[in-house]
Amino acid sequence: MLTFVPEEIENYSIQHTSKLPNYLQKLIRLTQETREDAMMLSGPIEGNLLQLLVISTKAKRILEIGTFTGFSAQMMADALPNDGEIITCDIDKETAKIANECFLESGHSEKITQKLGPALETMSELKGSFDIIFIDADKENYTAYYEKSMDLLSDSGLIIIDNVLWGGRVLNPKDETDIAIASLNDHITNDSRVTHVMLPIRDGVMLVTPSNK
Ligand SMILES: C[S@@+](CC[C@H](N)C(=O)[O-])C[C@H]1O[C@@H](n2cnc3c(N)ncnc32)[C@H](O)[C@@H]1O
Repeated sequence: MLTFVPEEIENYSIQHTSKLPNYLQKLIRLTQETREDAMMLSGPIEGNLLQLLVISTKAKRILEIGTFTGFSAQMMADALPNDGEIITCDIDKETAKIANECFLESGHSEKITQKLGPALETMSELKGSFDIIFIDADKENYTAYYEKSMDLLSDSGLIIIDNVLWGGRVLNPKDETDIAIASLNDHITNDSRVTHVMLPIRDGVMLVTPSNK
């Protein structure tokens, strides 16, 4: 699991965070047993943070960039009201199928729409505004996702961006991915349209909201 916190502190935090329902514990186990890239799962602490933000902002319409096996989409869908909606995008057919099976098992599948294809194309086709946009896909497109999200966000909406610390490599960016994430962090910091906070939980989570839209 990606985290800067010592393992025993991470485990203590998980023990003192709301428990996951059985079907999501099963999804985590299945992802860990069958996928070499299982560390892409956002996990129980970030999943509960997402859920708490959905509840506290009374979000009704959510966009997720990066479904993977469906864990974060499902955490947010569970917290949406019955007339809420989450659109989640990915390019990977195989993981989208695993996600779809979990959504059907959850009892919340009617709130979730999966879009398969490059997220920038999907975002260009979307209409209306979103209360929460969670960005958790290919890092090279992060600034493009952020700018498209600003266009799609409601006036008091929230953009949540995962992996903004990128294992600490943002301190001394070397490869294309490091540079993309560090550039986005600087871009947001210099963006006078927004109020934002970088939370050093897990691999870094940025929260952004329009300040004068
Ligand atoms: C870190 S994982 C998402 C994890 C998920 N949010 C969770 O918490 O379980 C990133 C996902 O982004 C997807 N992805 C990569 N490039 C993409 C693109 N151009 N458009 C849409 N999805 C993309 C990958 O296939 C992968 O499933």
